[in-house]
Amino acid sequence: MQTRRDWLKASIGLGGLVLSPNISLTAKEIENYRPRKLQSVVRLSSNENPYGPSKKVLDRIKDSFKYGCRYPSSFSDELADILAKKHNVSAESIIITGGSREGLKITALTYTKLGDEIIAGYPTYLTMMKYAEHWGASINWVPVDKNKSYNLDEIEKRISAKTKLVFLCNPNNPTGTIVSAKKLVDFCDVASKKTIVFSDEAYYDYIETPNYPSMIDAVRRGDNVIVSKTFSKVYGMAGLRLGYLIAKPEIAKKIRKNIVAMSNILAIEAAKEALKDTSFYKFSISKNKEEKQRIYSLLDHLKLDYVPSHTNFIFFHSKKDIKQLGSQMLAKGVSVGRPFPPFNDWCRISTGTADEVDKFINGMLEVYKG
Ligand SMILES: Cc1ncc(COP(=O)(O)O)c(C=O)c1O
Repeated sequence: MQTRRDWLKASIGLGGLVLSPNISLTAKEIENYRPRKLQSVVRLSSNENPYGPSKKVLDRIKDSFKYGCRYPSSFSDELADILAKKHNVSAESIIITGGSREGLKITALTYTKLGDEIIAGYPTYLTMMKYAEHWGASINWVPVDKNKSYNLDEIEKRISAKTKLVFLCNPNNPTGTIVSAKKLVDFCDVASKKTIVFSDEAYYDYIETPNYPSMIDAVRRGDNVIVSKTFSKVYGMAGLRLGYLIAKPEIAKKIRKNIVAMSNILAIEAAKEALKDTSFYKFSISKNKEEKQRIYSLLDHLKLDYVPSHTNFIFFHSKKDIKQLGSQMLAKGVSVGRPFPPFNDWCRISTGTADEVDKFINGMLEVYKG
């Protein structure tokens, strides 16, 4: 039998083939191993912020490589302190996670098991519910109302002893809607006495209604409410993976035990800098508004209905199957959002840079010209 040592000897005898695999590769294979470039297709399908991370954040990341030998806990504790001050809660209320997606998952993991239930609107952002289903939880889906907004009255009616969580995506992905401020506050007040309300505020910064409340207010009052936030959207850091949950300390303590991914020092330091870089924050919001206006004008021109958006994407009535429009637009070099049943003839389009939106506009004009 050939031992590992024999194999090594034989390999080294073959002119170091093991160490330099390229020698045996064809030109085509070498081409395949090149680092992947981002596709030439414009990606307006994932609600990213193409301007980020800001220059100041990039510099901070470069400067933070030197901490790469350290474990991130003390760095993330500092970030938790900064966020606690920003939101006027205690640091024990903050849980730093690897993107807010981790926060959504570990909340499901903490509070749901076989036979339990989550109530959520539909369509919505699915991460928490898909994860909970792994543990045998069931989802009580409540269709959005005629304005494509969360139907809080119906959700309230359906809360029962089985309900361990209510998931609110506000603003909602993919519809871009918010519920009325008063309804939201009243709902959280009543529902959090019966179950735990989770308010996903990934797009909160883009809300266009002045003084719209964050459900952090309810956390401060000590209610059974959990809020999630992310650095992926307005701060343009989706690839860095940094999000956080805010909950009263008793809840936060339970959820924190289930952290799996954590974040890393580069993302944590980036987040600290992003919080200081207010000019980039304002820039992101104003660019998003500009591009949304241009997309609204196009949709008006094409007579396609849309839902006024409080996010960095727009949900519009494409009047054709989204799979068909998706492939037509891909042929024009633009990737648009996936199907969101039951609205299979609606399309979610993210805002991009002016050039990217130009490409979307030109593609749409060609597709709809007939
Ligand atoms: C509503 C909502 N919540 C959470 C996320 C996840 O964000 P991240 O994990 O990048 O923080 C997204 C991403 O698109 C989202 O749309």
